[in-house]
Amino acid sequence: MATGNSHHRARLRSRAAPLLLVVMLAVLALTGLLRASRHDFVPPVARAAAGGGGNGNHTIAQRKILLDPDFTPRLPRQSALSLSLSQRNALPPRNADRFPRLPEGHLKVVLYVHNRPRYLRLVVDSLSRVDGIGEALLIVSHDGYFPEMDKIVQAITFCQVKQIFAPYSPHLFPDAFPGVSSGDCQGKDKATEKHCHGDPDQYGNHRSPRIVSLKHHWWWMMNTVWDGLEETRDFDGHILFIEEDHYIFPNAYRNAQLLVDLKPRKCPQCYAINLAPSDVKAKGEGWESLIAEKMGNIGYAFNRTVWRKIHAKAKQFCTFDEYNWDITMWATVYPSFGSPVYSLRGPRRSAAHFGKCGLHQGQGASNVCVDNGDAAVQLDAIDKVPNIKANWPVHIIQRQEGYQAGFKGWGGWGDKRDQELCLSFAYMHHFKDPSSA
Ligand SMILES: *[C@@H]1O[C@H](CO)[C@@H](O)[C@H](O)[C@H]1NC(C)=O
Ligand SMILES: *[C@@H]1O[C@H](CO)[C@@H](O)[C@H](O)[C@H]1NC(C)=O
Repeated sequence: MATGNSHHRARLRSRAAPLLLVVMLAVLALTGLLRASRHDFVPPVARAAAGGGGNGNHTIAQRKILLDPDFTPRLPRQSALSLSLSQRNALPPRNADRFPRLPEGHLKVVLYVHNRPRYLRLVVDSLSRVDGIGEALLIVSHDGYFPEMDKIVQAITFCQVKQIFAPYSPHLFPDAFPGVSSGDCQGKDKATEKHCHGDPDQYGNHRSPRIVSLKHHWWWMMNTVWDGLEETRDFDGHILFIEEDHYIFPNAYRNAQLLVDLKPRKCPQCYAINLAPSDVKAKGEGWESLIAEKMGNIGYAFNRTVWRKIHAKAKQFCTFDEYNWDITMWATVYPSFGSPVYSLRGPRRSAAHFGKCGLHQGQGASNVCVDNGDAAVQLDAIDKVPNIKANWPVHIIQRQEGYQAGFKGWGGWGDKRDQELCLSFAYMHHFKDPSSA
């Protein structure tokens, strides 16, 4: 979501980041989001969050989870809206009548969205023209409930569609954690002086629900699509992840399949495949070669083995004081794997980030960012057909700029409640409810 937006990010990544957080917190305080209510935790019931249900026939990889006996997962008490969304999460995919069989070797495609309907329309339109998309299961994961977003997804007819809503999104909790609850510290408040609640980040700033929602959503979604859904729990192929501001080229699905097939042979050290360069503005080199480079965040796909490795680093992911999920991955999770985390891609992109509105800009009523994404993307004929060759060599880009081990994080993620909620997501589909044993 915001992570895809380079403009907004470039600003937040500057040294002005802590100042910006303060301004955002101040704006939040003024918009009267603070209303009375205390956050209220209840222990999670196994699998309740995604509404998966059923005793899965779990793969070995799935059983190998690391449970910390000292950590008690707890999830916020759900509101009526949150509960109704959990129920929707349990519904079977739509369009199964039209697309009854998902063939061997198909990919699951997860599209994660927040609230930019203009963008989502473009993305869905681009997906409708993707060759092979009818073979995929498209899972749309929503951060918050927005009727217009819901309507766009419900109108999709070109493949099986499963909709899930993050039931603990801060956007669903107007007056309680994970939203803002009364008594929460704001900005650079000193908890002892103000008698307020919260832990500041490394720059002295208190949490902002709108900012933490991104990382919460990504982590909830990952845990849910890999471990919480009937439709994917036993899937041992690759899941491809895209966002609401990623334009998908007609050759994206077939290229992704080619890359997945070539990966074991061409790049055994690669963890994933990517539809675009890790430099989000780059179109690719155009060489007659595959490229292995650091993991990018536009159209990335990996399998359950890799997910288990990521899941095992839940504690690092959830306690690192950085509100962007991808910077968290680059700075803590990937470096902890012990070897470079390469991703395999083609020499021309099959997906592109578009749009100028940052996530936070798109949200506030007072500063609606108008951008139709119309300058979206120019497609050449070669982008409409599979354009990756099995006999190409692999060019490995070894040392790259960007976030890596040692980076301390931009902050925004210092509150223990966020860290514990995040960690609880890692447990929610594995937690054995003693009363149901
Ligand atoms: C578990 O999976 C295996 C292999 O996919 C299958 O043969 C078996 O019937 C499944 N068992 C149950 C209880 O679903
Ligand atoms: C999943 O991908 C990793 C990295 O490419 C690979 O090492 C592993 O063998 C794959 N696992 C399965 C079950 O295919």
